[in-house]
Amino acid sequence: MRRIHDIEEWRHYTDEQRRGGRNIGLVTTMGALHEGHASLFEAAKKNGDLVVATIFVNPRQFGDARDLDRYPRTPELDAKIAEEHGVDCLVEPSLEQMWPQYPGPTLTTVSVRGLGDVLEGEGRPGHFDGVASVVAKLFALNGPSRAYFGEKDFQQVVVIRQMVRDLALPVEVVALPIVRDHDGLALSSRNVLLSEDARRRALGLSRALRDVQSSPRRASEMRTRMRSVMEEAGVEVSYADVVDPFTLQACADEERGPRRAMVAGVVGGVRLIDNAPVEIVSRGR
Ligand code: PAF
Repeated sequence: MRRIHDIEEWRHYTDEQRRGGRNIGLVTTMGALHEGHASLFEAAKKNGDLVVATIFVNPRQFGDARDLDRYPRTPELDAKIAEEHGVDCLVEPSLEQMWPQYPGPTLTTVSVRGLGDVLEGEGRPGHFDGVASVVAKLFALNGPSRAYFGEKDFQQVVVIRQMVRDLALPVEVVALPIVRDHDGLALSSRNVLLSEDARRRALGLSRALRDVQSSPRRASEMRTRMRSVMEEAGVEVSYADVVDPFTLQACADEERGPRRAMVAGVVGGVRLIDNAPVEIVSRGR
C-alpha cells in the first residue's frame, strides 16, 4: 500500500492511474478505522476499483473545539487496517494543505440547503457545510469514479448525493449498510470514547430502532416509542424522528410506506447517531 501525505503527489498519482485506465474508488474517512470502514474498502475492491482511502480529521465539520480535540486518532493502526482490507493508496493530507486559511474561514463553502439544516444539522449548525466542502475538495483532488459511504451517516449520504446531483460531479455515490457489533451497537469511530457503562446505555439507540422496525406503527407513535426506549436506557435524546429517506422531512401520520427512522443522543458525553429503514402504517396496531 502506498502512503501519501502531499496533495500534489496525490493528484499526480491518481491522474496517472486514470490515464492507465484504472477506475478510482474513494473512501473518505476521519480515521479511527473499524469494520464499517473495512466494508467500504472491500466493496470498492470487489468492484475492481483502485482503492484510495483518505484520513483527514476535518475541523470545519466540528462546531465544538473539545469534540475535535478528543476525536480519536490512531494513524498507525489505521494504516494496518487499510492495508489488510485492500486499500491501494492511503492519503493523509495535512491541515495546512487542506485548509491553508484555517482557522480563518474559506471564501467558498458548499452548502446543501434544507437537507443539511435538519436533524444533525439542527444541533450542529454548519456541520454539513463542513462535510460537503471537504468532500467536494477531496473529490476534486482525487477524481474518483465511485465514492463509498456508510449508511450509519445516513443524512451525510443524502447531502452528498444531492451535492453530486446539483454540481453534476462525475462520481457515483455508493452507500453501504451499517455494520453493527454483536449486540447491535452501530460501529462508529466515537465508540472507543465510551466507558463500559456508557457503552451499555448506548445500546438504547439500536434497541429503539429495532423496536419500531419489528412492529409497524404511525410515525408519531414511532417517535414517542423510540424516545422512551432511549430514555429508559439512559440516553440523553437529541432527536428520534421518522423521515422521508430522500427529503429528510418529518413524516406525517397520514403517510405510509418505507421511511427512515433516525435517532441521536448523548451518552457519557459522547454523541452517537443511528438509523434504520422502517415501514409506517396509517393506523397504529
Ligand atoms: O464520515 C466521515 O468520516 C466524514 O464526515 C467525512 C465524509 C470523511 C468528511 O470529513
